[in-house]
Amino acid sequence: MDAATVMARCDALQEHTEEPGKLTRRFATPALERATDAVEGWMREAGLTTRRDAVRNLFGRYEGARDDAPAFLLGSHLDSVPDGGRYDGPLGVLTALAVVERFAARGERLPFALEVCAFSDEESVRYGTTYLGSSAIAGAFGDDWLDRVDRDGIAMRDALRAVGGDPDAVASCARDPADTVGWLELHIEQGPALEAEGLPIGVVTGIQAQVRHRWEIRGQAGHAGTTPMAGRRDALAAGASLLLAVEEIGRGMSDLVATVGIIDAEPGAMNVIPGRVTLTTDIRHPDDVRLGAALDDVDGAAAAIAAERGVTISREELSGDPSVPCDARLRAVLHDAVEAEGFPARDLASGAGHDAAALARICPVAMLFLRCEGGISHNPAENVDELDVAIALDVMERALIDLGARP
Ligand code: HGY
Ligand code: MN
Ligand code: MN
Repeated sequence: MDAATVMARCDALQEHTEEPGKLTRRFATPALERATDAVEGWMREAGLTTRRDAVRNLFGRYEGARDDAPAFLLGSHLDSVPDGGRYDGPLGVLTALAVVERFAARGERLPFALEVCAFSDEESVRYGTTYLGSSAIAGAFGDDWLDRVDRDGIAMRDALRAVGGDPDAVASCARDPADTVGWLELHIEQGPALEAEGLPIGVVTGIQAQVRHRWEIRGQAGHAGTTPMAGRRDALAAGASLLLAVEEIGRGMSDLVATVGIIDAEPGAMNVIPGRVTLTTDIRHPDDVRLGAALDDVDGAAAAIAAERGVTISREELSGDPSVPCDARLRAVLHDAVEAEGFPARDLASGAGHDAAALARICPVAMLFLRCEGGISHNPAENVDELDVAIALDVMERALIDLGARP
């Protein structure tokens, strides 16, 4: 299969969205199911054996030289952020399928099976659960995840059941590490480095650590017209102070990134001083210890704001993922493949989280980054060049053949 087909299929998946006119495809929604059905159809056309697991991950398997051979996994995720781009996730799934189809078309068998993985949730948009699909196969599904509720009060276990998943069988998703040779994921870079250097492809060195919290600030609701400014316990003003403190801490430590992505004020009326606020923080750093220090700084800022403004501030951790190095041997194979295709092997660290972070629990992981226009992602303007996709397909195919020659 060629790059043009991959691009056309990324376009075709656009129609499977929760919001017509933009791409929003959250976990355990009919839109995600339709997209997954489309990919399953393409897998079957390629001659792969397909299956869904209890959390609606999709797998397409191409057997190795022996039927009981362990599998090398490749793919990415099919869910999206709200109003997202068409390549973040699907490009990894569809390039993996295109490469496996090349082996299937010529009946070439490797010492390992090839399993294309289309994970049902990586973005964590609906339930705040990073890497849900890949965590399930890594045996790291969160204990409280099934009980989490979304913004409409729908529990994950009910949402999963409604789309044909089986919340009581999540443990059955876990793979045996002995059956898993490794993981390879192609993903758009979601940053400007490759474009700035005129390179189509890069080799990922590792994924940075990240911690996400939901904060609750409780003050005192009151009348906007009759309550003097002095003595107010305005939960939203306190939340704004915390937001700016997070930004200042983010700016104050090199390589740290810190984001407040969501803030909600209650009761949400123009003439009422907000009595309760919730907000989220997403804080990341390549080094786990430095990240811990930054989190301590945020806690210190929150305590000072609470004391100064007479509010209470508490937090709960939504997700915490340590930094993950990519496997040195797989990186060397990717370096050789990139150079054999005529390009310098440019190493890049990943600021974004990826399913590789979860899969590293059960197998060696590797990633390739593809140049993306303006480094833009999590945005409908996300774009890649078909020629770069063609290069990536050849690099991935060459790497798998090389791995097969030196298992
Ligand atoms: O948030 C991330 O880094 C990824 O896009 N889920
Ligand atoms: Mn992604
Ligand atoms: Mn993403």
